Amino acid sequence: MPSLASAPPLWLRDNCPCPDCRDPRNGQKLFQITELPAGLAVGTVQDATTEDGAPAREVVWTPDGHRSVYPETWLGAHLPGAPAAPGDGRTEDDKHLWDAAGLADRIPEADWAAYSADPAARADALEGVMRLGFVLLRGVPVRDRQVLDVARTFGFVRETNYGELFEVRVEADPNNLAFTGARITPHTDNPYRDPVPTLQLLHCLTNAARGGDSGLVDGFHAAALLRAEDPEAYDVLTRVPVPFAFADAHTDLRAHRPLIGTDPAGRIREIRFNNRSIGTLRRPAAILDAFYAAYRRFGELLLRPELQLDFRLTPGDCLIFDNTRLLHARTAFAESGDRHLQGAYADIDGLASTLAVLRRDLQEGAV
Ligand code: OGA
Ligand code: ZN
Ligand code: ZN
Repeated sequence: MPSLASAPPLWLRDNCPCPDCRDPRNGQKLFQITELPAGLAVGTVQDATTEDGAPAREVVWTPDGHRSVYPETWLGAHLPGAPAAPGDGRTEDDKHLWDAAGLADRIPEADWAAYSADPAARADALEGVMRLGFVLLRGVPVRDRQVLDVARTFGFVRETNYGELFEVRVEADPNNLAFTGARITPHTDNPYRDPVPTLQLLHCLTNAARGGDSGLVDGFHAAALLRAEDPEAYDVLTRVPVPFAFADAHTDLRAHRPLIGTDPAGRIREIRFNNRSIGTLRRPAAILDAFYAAYRRFGELLLRPELQLDFRLTPGDCLIFDNTRLLHARTAFAESGDRHLQGAYADIDGLASTLAVLRRDLQEGAV
């Protein structure tokens, strides 16, 4: 085990588990970082045991004489030099990236009856969303507003200006191309919102039109390919904020974000890509040139057939997908045909929480 004496004192003390430092009822910290004494240092260290008898190390601190007892298992897992810390599940490091061939015969899917009745099946389905970016539920009741009940199995519906749910069908006066029979190329939804809805659901009620097939592209995989093939273009797309906008008679939304969002360590974390709602960039000409070359390059890459998983939604299918990672598409369809999906938005932090609790309960045999 790495040496306890070499642990940064403020870090170690901030993690003291004693009941004066953390409320035993909820584990929440009871002090402010500013309340720790100046010149804090480890005074003495000795072997000890925790209240439930596990091997531990006891630190007595100077200058205030506070005592901290750290379980050895905790130290082994957390001291600097211990195995890498897990991420929060949202960056490329925590994902299984895919192309169409990689998923060919193992699309993550679950039957609604099993999903509803069996916590292990539900956990596997939600794991699909976290790791692969989506799951396809089959046999979901073909019922008006059922999509909201699907969302409520793992989280909370995100209501927007489109309502609690949105109808994807041909409309007479569409405020969005989605509500026509037009082909829609791979895109993420609602990039003009901040925060963007992190999950989308599409529930198929009818799909009797000619055309209207679905496609999904792993945007993290595509961005990683761009990084490998054209690092400069990738860099531009992570840096240039794009003015996304949506307006109709009642709404005027805007969010300025890059097409490829990265975390502070440079890992891919969020894709926003939607040609329908990119506004006018107003930047020096050299930046516009570089952005447009990179945007086009990424756009071409996203249209590579080998990246797109093609399938057809049939009544009772409900797709749940990560709208910060996957791009979705549909082929054109005959407007005379009958095609009706109901869509809703929700958030992936809630799904991840539901999954974590399910996993915990399954491990403890509680469900
Ligand atoms: C949408 C959309 C896909 C479809 O409504 O945002 O992309 O299959 N629809 O109609
Ligand atoms: Zn303490
Ligand atoms: Zn869409």
